[in-house]
Amino acid sequence: MRVLSIFGTRPEAIKMAPLVAALGREPQLHSSVCVTGQHREMLAQVMALFGLQAQHELDVMRPNQTLNGLYARLLTAVGAVLDAEQPDCVLVHGDTTTAAAAAMAAFHRRIAVGHVEAGLRSGNMHSPFPEEMNRRLVDSMSTWLFAPTPAAREAALQEKVSGHIWVTGNTVIDALNATLARLDADAERQRALAQRYSWLDAERKLVLVTGHRRENFGEGFRNICAALEALAQRDDVQIVYPVHLNPNVRDVVRQSLASQANVHLIEPLDYVDFVWLMRRAYLILTDSGGVQEEAPALGKPVLVMRDVTERPEAVAAGTVRLVGTSRERITAEATRLLDDASLHTEFCRKGNPYGDGHACQRIVDALCGRAFAEFRPGPIAQSQPLMNAFIAESHL
Ligand code: UD1
Ligand code: UDP
Repeated sequence: MRVLSIFGTRPEAIKMAPLVAALGREPQLHSSVCVTGQHREMLAQVMALFGLQAQHELDVMRPNQTLNGLYARLLTAVGAVLDAEQPDCVLVHGDTTTAAAAAMAAFHRRIAVGHVEAGLRSGNMHSPFPEEMNRRLVDSMSTWLFAPTPAAREAALQEKVSGHIWVTGNTVIDALNATLARLDADAERQRALAQRYSWLDAERKLVLVTGHRRENFGEGFRNICAALEALAQRDDVQIVYPVHLNPNVRDVVRQSLASQANVHLIEPLDYVDFVWLMRRAYLILTDSGGVQEEAPALGKPVLVMRDVTERPEAVAAGTVRLVGTSRERITAEATRLLDDASLHTEFCRKGNPYGDGHACQRIVDALCGRAFAEFRPGPIAQSQPLMNAFIAESHL
C-alpha cells in the first residue's frame, strides 16, 4: 500500500514524526511525505529536529493568511501532488486547515483517508475555531479513524461516522517519550540547555506560557496579557513566553508585555528546548492542544485559557483546569496555585490519559490489517526497541 502522509504545521509535524518513522520501517507499506508549508519557520524547526524528509514540499503560507485563501491554495496544491503520487491512502493529522483541505482533496479523488487524532470534540463549533469544524469534516470523510482515547472513539461513534475506528493513543506521547529518553541519556545536552537558559532565576517559580487560538484574538489576548502583567508583579515568579509567529498574537503580546521586566518574550522554541522548559516549569498557562496532552505526562499543572476543550481527559484527572480568558479568573487561579503548595501538589499527579508510547505501531498495524491491543489508559509500559529506533533515525 502506498501511504502519503500530509501535514503542514508545527504540532502536526511533531505528532507525525514518530509515525513517519514507523511507516518507513514497515515492509508492507510504501511511505512518502508531503509537507504543505502552512507554517514556514515553525515547521522547518520540527523537520530539522526530527530529520524528517519530505518528497513533496509545498509553500502555501502567506503572511497573516486568511482561512479561505489558505484552504484554496491547499486544495489546488495538494491535489496536484495526489495526481502525481497516486497514493492508495492519505494520512492527515488533527484539525488544521491542512488536514481538512488535504482530506477533501483526497476524498474528491476517491483516495482513502486515514485520520490520526480522530474524534476529539469540544461540542462548540466556534471554539476551537475553525478546528472543531475541520475535525468533524475530516472524520466524516475518513475510511480509518485513529482515535487517541476511548472518549474520542465514543464522540465519533455518536456522529455515526462511516469509517472504522481504532483507539491507538496519541502519537504525541510517542514523540514526547523519545525526546525525554534522548534528553535523559545526554548529560552534555542537559548542560548545554542549562547554559542556554542560564538567565532563568532558580529562586523564582517558572510560569511557562503559550497561546495562539483564533477565538482568543482581540479581547481574549488583551485579557491574557493583562493577567500576565498582573502576575509579573510578584517577585517569586518568572514568566517565560515563546511567542507564536502569527502577527495577530505577536503584535498584541509585544505591545502589552515587551516592557515588563519579569516577562521574557522569546521566539518559538525547538521541541527539545520546549520540553526541557516544561519540565522546569512550576505552572503552565496555555491555550494549546498539544501542551494540554504533554504536561500531564510530565506531572505539570496546566491552566487552559479557553472556555471549552476537546481534551477533557486531563481535566477529569485533575492536572488541567479550564480558566477561560478573563483577566480576573486567570490571575486568581494562577495565584492560588502559586500560593498554595498543597493545591499545587494535587495538580502534579503524574499520569497519562492520552497515550502509552505505542500509538504509531498501532496505526501501522491497523493499516497492515494486523490485530493489536487497543490503547487503554492505565499503567504505562514503554517499548524500548521501537523508541530507540525512532531516536536513531531522527536527529533528536
Ligand atoms: C494553525 C492552525 C491551528 C494550530 C496552529 C499550531 C488552522 C486554521 N490553524 O494556527 O489549528 O493549532 O497552527 O500552531 O489550521 N506564521 C509565520 N511562520 C510560521 C507560522 C505562522 O509567519 O512558521 C504566521 C503567518 O503570518 C501566518 C500566520 O502565522 O499567516 C497564521 O498561520 P496559520 O497556520 O494560518 O494559523 P495558526 O494560528 O498558526
Ligand atoms: N511547542 C514547541 N515550541 C514552542 C511551543 C510549543 O515545540 O515554542 C510544541 C509543544 O510542545 C506542542 C506543540 O508545539 O507539542 C503545540 O503546538 P501549538 O501550540 O502551536 O499547536 P496546538 O497543539 O495548539 O495545535
